[in-house]
Amino acid sequence: MKDIYILAIETSCDETSCSIIRNGCDELSTIVLSQIDIHSLYGGVVPEIASRNHIENITIVIEETLNKIGLKMEQIDAIAVTYGPGLIGSLMIGVQAAKTLSYIYNKPLIPVHHIAGHIYANNLVKPLNFPLIALVVSGGHTDLIYMKEDYSFEYIGGTLDDAVGEAYDKVARVIGLKYPGGPLVDELAHIGEDTYNLPIPLDDDSYNFSFSGIKSAVINLVHNEAQKNRKIVPENLACSFQNRVVEILTKKTMNALKKYNVQNLILAGGVSANKGLREKFKNLCYKENINLTIPKLKYCTDNAAMIGAAGYYAYKLGKRADLSLNAKASDKLY
Ligand code: KG4
Ligand code: ZN
Repeated sequence: MKDIYILAIETSCDETSCSIIRNGCDELSTIVLSQIDIHSLYGGVVPEIASRNHIENITIVIEETLNKIGLKMEQIDAIAVTYGPGLIGSLMIGVQAAKTLSYIYNKPLIPVHHIAGHIYANNLVKPLNFPLIALVVSGGHTDLIYMKEDYSFEYIGGTLDDAVGEAYDKVARVIGLKYPGGPLVDELAHIGEDTYNLPIPLDDDSYNFSFSGIKSAVINLVHNEAQKNRKIVPENLACSFQNRVVEILTKKTMNALKKYNVQNLILAGGVSANKGLREKFKNLCYKENINLTIPKLKYCTDNAAMIGAAGYYAYKLGKRADLSLNAKASDKLY
């Protein structure tokens, strides 16, 4: 069978990224240009600054991705692009670049949902086995998804309020860490002890999550201690917060695997880089004989390699967009 080369573009937030993926699983060349240093000065992503930086970087990033492996646009079979969800101004830059390449080189244009990309980051580790359950944990999503086969996404449950990454970033801010705080809270949690009495969030039999309560509990605790002129111990607070979050994410996911009688679990999204979460899932899945796949660390957070992997399956299924493709700030995958 002929090899299929997908050139993928991802600009949904503050990473300008391009990648070339062969047959949905071989990553040949990827560039991720992060704007974190710029946005951390403001304590979070500033959308207008993000889109301006995408404009400056997108052509350089695409050219470099091709040059790294000496590939020409003529050798590419299709262009995949994240059309949403994400920051509208940021998405528009990637979509415009992809449409332009598709038009000039007469290549099919494949629209990819950002979360499908996160899920297919696992296909760069090993081919997905079905049926599977995906736990999607990112800055914007915390969802449990059932997949019967490629590109079929069935919603089992998800957060009723904040996404888990969002809660991590807020907790980080209130304990004085810079943006993005998730990885820093994770680091602190590993040197701290679980001494704070925080609630396990939405500890019920459903497959839904809620992180606004535990986030507020942390904020209130920090303020109350400050009023009493007492200092919090940041590493202990990070440890207590992370333990509760990991506890509920793993508990509900393992319950879902049993209920749906599924042996394959994949993690997806930025928070799947979390060391505590990865470790706990590895132990539980080993005990329960569950086949666990986690993306490589560098493909947990936003990147175009995952879009190229998902784009390949979308391409095979005949999903195409024409030049009227628009960026969408919000759009449902399931
Ligand atoms: O998937 P992603 O790059 O962007 C979205 O699609 O949202 O996820 C970013 C989120 C941020 O909230 C970041 O703090 C969080 O993932 N994150 C982590 C870790 N690494 C990234 N949260 C906890 N522990 C980590 N190690
Ligand atoms: Zn993402």
